[in-house]
Amino acid sequence: MGHFEERFAAARRAVIARDFKRMNPPQLEAVLTTEGPLLLLAGAGSGKTTVLINRVANLLRYGRGSDSQELPMDATEEDLAFLERYPADPTAEERARMEELCAIGRAMPWEIIAITFTNKAANELKDRLQRMIGESAADIWACTFHSACVRILRRDIDKLGVYTRDFTIYDTDDSKRVIKDITKSLELDEKAFPQREVLSVISNAKGRIQLPESYAAQAAKTGDWKQQRIAKIYAEYDRRLREANALDFDDILFKAVELLGQSQEVREYYQRKFRYVLIDE
Ligand SMILES: Nc1ncnc2c1ncn2[C@@H]1O[C@H](COP(=O)(O)OP(=O)(O)O)[C@@H](O)[C@H]1O
Ligand SMILES: [Mg+2]
Repeated sequence: MGHFEERFAAARRAVIARDFKRMNPPQLEAVLTTEGPLLLLAGAGSGKTTVLINRVANLLRYGRGSDSQELPMDATEEDLAFLERYPADPTAEERARMEELCAIGRAMPWEIIAITFTNKAANELKDRLQRMIGESAADIWACTFHSACVRILRRDIDKLGVYTRDFTIYDTDDSKRVIKDITKSLELDEKAFPQREVLSVISNAKGRIQLPESYAAQAAKTGDWKQQRIAKIYAEYDRRLREANALDFDDILFKAVELLGQSQEVREYYQRKFRYVLIDE
C-alpha cells in the first residue's frame, strides 16, 4: 500500500505540473509547494509575481494536492493508471476526472490574501490574477499592507473603543497641517520644529509601536529639551486625531496591529479566514 500511495502522489504532482508548463524548474517547485512557509528570493523581472499568480491558481484548482501524500479515500489502481497515462489532449470528461482525483481541500478565493507594498504593484497583481483565474479573483484580497489594514479596521475598529468605523484617513498634507497648528499653539518656532521632521520622529515612534506616554517618558529620561517638546507635540497630535476620528498612514498599520493583538475574536476571525497568505515584496 505504501508503494501505491507514493506512486499516486507522484503521478498527481506530475499531472498538476502540466497545468504550469510555462514555469521553469524553480518556479514550478514554488508553485507546487502549497504547505508551510516558503521564501522566494530572486532579482527584479525574474518571475516572482508570476510564481505568486500561478501558485494562487494551483491553490484554487488543486488545494494541497501537489504537496500532499493524502489519497482520495477510494482511490483505485485504475485511478492511478489513469493519472499515469493522462493524455496530452484530454476530453472534458477526462479533465474533470483528473481534477477530481488531484484536488485536496481546494482553497476558496476569499481564503487567500496576497499583499504588496505599493498601490502600483497591488493593481498589477489584481489585473494579473483576474486574467489568470477570471472573475472569482475579485474575492481574493489582493492589496497593499495599508489597504488590508483599512479593511480590517473598517470592520472592527470600534472594538478599540476610541474610533468609529467611518473614520477619516489623513494624508501627509493633513498631518502637516495639524502639526503646524500645534507648534503654533505651543508657541514653538516652526524653524526649529519643521513639520516634516516632527512627523518623521512621530512616525518612527509609531513604527516602534511607542505611544505618546512612553515617548514622553523616554524624552524625560534623556533630558533632551527638543525631544521633550516633540513629545508634547506627539501627545497633542494623537489627541487631535482621535478627536477628529482620524487615522494617519502610520495609524492604519499601528491600529490594525493593536486591534489584532487586543481582540481575540478579530484575530481568530482572520486566522480562520486566511488559509494562505502570500506577500509580493
Ligand atoms: N517562466 C517564464 N517563462 C516566460 N516568461 C516568464 C516566465 N516567468 C516570468 N515571465 C515573464 O517575465 C516578466 C517578469 O515577470 P514577473 O513575474 O513580473 O517578475 P518579478 O515579479 O520577479 O519582477 C513577465 O512579463 C512575465 O510574464
Ligand atoms: Mg513582481
